[in-house]
Amino acid sequence: MKTIFILNGSNLNLLGTRQPEIYGTTTLADIETACADHVAGTGFTVDFRQSNAEHALVDWVQEARHAAAAIIINPAAFTHSSVALLDALNTFEGPVVEVHLSNIHKREAFRHHSYVSLRADTVIAGAGHSGYLYALLQVTAMLGAAR
Ligand code: DQA
Repeated sequence: MKTIFILNGSNLNLLGTRQPEIYGTTTLADIETACADHVAGTGFTVDFRQSNAEHALVDWVQEARHAAAAIIINPAAFTHSSVALLDALNTFEGPVVEVHLSNIHKREAFRHHSYVSLRADTVIAGAGHSGYLYALLQVTAMLGAAR
């Protein structure tokens, strides 16, 4: 069984009620369930986490070095600020897929730059909660191709 870490950054615990006109009405718990259902019976399992703390995300990426085959990450606001998260991701050898619910390139200029994109193999933005499922399709294809 291969584990895929799905890591979520700041304020994503509020999905469902947080600016639904931008982020939709689906909750993070709904997304976690959809991701678990998506990989059921495939030989992959998901470990789905959220934190408002930058250091927690850094610690989880370090943990992934020995505990995960791939990382899917929505770094939220840390996308645009965290060199520490980029540095941690640069130590991870497996596939990394960056996900954003909204299309960050259609929004304020400060959201157009992503530190995480300097490491991500794939970036999915603007697909709403379906972006997480597209990310799972991508990492399972990448891991399958590497076998
Ligand atoms: C986000 C986009 C970020 O700019 C923002 O800070 C978020 C969510 C998204 O999923 O669209 O918190 O990562």
